[in-house]
Amino acid sequence: MAFERVGVVGLGTMGAGIAEVFARAGLRVIGVEADAEMLARGRGLLERSTGRAVDKGKLTGAERDEILGRVTLTTSRADLRDADLVIEAIPEILDYKVSLFEDLDGICKPETVLATNTSSLSVTAIAAATGRPGRVVGLHFFNPAPVMRLVEVVSTVVTEPGVVGAVSELAGRLGKTAVTVGDRAGFVVNRLLLPYLNHAVALMEQGVAGRDDIDLAMKVGVGLPMGPFTLLDLIGLDTSYEVMEVLFDETRERRHAPSPLLRELVTAGLLGRKSGRGFYGEERAHPSGAGRSLPIAFDVAGPGSEELVARLAAAGFERSGEGADVVLRLADRPVVEHAVRLRDPATMVGVHLVGDQVAELASTALTSDAAADAAADLMKVAGLSPVSCKDRAGFVVDALLYPYLNDAVRMHDAGYASIDDIDAAMRLGCGYPAGPFQTLESLGLARVRDGLRALYAEYREPAFAPAPLLDQLVTAGASEFPRR
Ligand code: 3HC
Repeated sequence: MAFERVGVVGLGTMGAGIAEVFARAGLRVIGVEADAEMLARGRGLLERSTGRAVDKGKLTGAERDEILGRVTLTTSRADLRDADLVIEAIPEILDYKVSLFEDLDGICKPETVLATNTSSLSVTAIAAATGRPGRVVGLHFFNPAPVMRLVEVVSTVVTEPGVVGAVSELAGRLGKTAVTVGDRAGFVVNRLLLPYLNHAVALMEQGVAGRDDIDLAMKVGVGLPMGPFTLLDLIGLDTSYEVMEVLFDETRERRHAPSPLLRELVTAGLLGRKSGRGFYGEERAHPSGAGRSLPIAFDVAGPGSEELVARLAAAGFERSGEGADVVLRLADRPVVEHAVRLRDPATMVGVHLVGDQVAELASTALTSDAAADAAADLMKVAGLSPVSCKDRAGFVVDALLYPYLNDAVRMHDAGYASIDDIDAAMRLGCGYPAGPFQTLESLGLARVRDGLRALYAEYREPAFAPAPLLDQLVTAGASEFPRR
């Protein structure tokens, strides 16, 4: 199976990126759009992306011309008749895709492999619309396609032997790593990523923390390449909404229902980067300005206090003990039970250090604004970025991270994908510094299991209950997952 001529149908953000990836790898590309206007938009995306590479010195002008010279743009699907492979990247509406594949089946030669870049729709349903279901696969790229190194190759129960191997080999030629997966809603990455993003929106809607605080906690605290709201804007809120709809349809889990705020923004046409505004608009300001209410009389309590006391002392701030304006209580659980034991509960703020740069600051229902502000100022002088949140189980980071890790364990335990494939998919598809199993093992299985128990006890969300495999490994005293 030689792939030399590749068709790409739909030249939006993903399609244009995919066309660029193939052209860069030396293949001839036929890019198809519905009309002249969309075609011009697709051409603009290709020109801008390769132009940026020239500006950065990654490509010479001549190389860029060669790449663009390998791409033929057309509004006629009939031009795909000689393609060896056609990938569709049109909107995520099953009816549109089915009708496109029916068409492609009639146009393309019988041996052409037809692929869908669907984020979550059933590849089997799309394949069944053709007379060649054995030669239809999912080929799922990640945004931005020229950068992210993963391709999920989705096979169905009727995919012909050899097709998956050939397509995976092609992914290698493109400089990507292929992970082969079965046809389940969301495949590996979206199944793990999108519920986490949706959960971030839910935390914001519940007022647990704000957009900028959540983004900062996950990017700077956890070390992810982007915070969830920045990533939602990159993926597109419409795409994110559609993926959640498909997940919800399959699982009927309430947490998979797209957040109402997502729907509202999509209906308002605020789709993220592609429309110029989503969770973020023009502005990108993070809260700043240390020292508003200093000097402050403060005290520090709870496990690990010494380190924070030392950091503050090094910055010239000594604890005052009695009569403090703010009591910083180090904890990884809600602190209100400690607050009510104080003479003045309004002074208590929970502090949870995430990595070595971020401090989550939990305000209880009793915390005064003055104490919350003072705590934020103290963190800044201690060289930590404060993340303000409510005094809820998991605060921000653990509440978002642990259910994602739990989902990965369940996915593996269900036999859908191996530990190594899941880890590779999240590292290469989303640029995570480590896969979920690597993260679980470095945090400690017991710590994550206990954190999940606390989340479950507070939110009563069934999916937050520790996965049986995780629970059993902790009970058995294991510190690693057995690789089968
Ligand atoms: N097209 C081409 N190249 C791009 C690009 C784009 N749209 N955006 C960024 N890049 C390149 C830059 O040119 C730069 O290249 P260089 O290192 O050779 O100079 C490199 O990527 C890094 O870019 P920046 O320095 O501008 O910015 P960052 O360091 O912040 O990286 C990022 C940007 C690569 C997008 C990084 O933040 C990241 O990995 N984010 C996570 C993205 C992610 O999770 N994607 C998957 C989403 S899920 C999905 O797509 C599936 C779908 O079905 C929903």
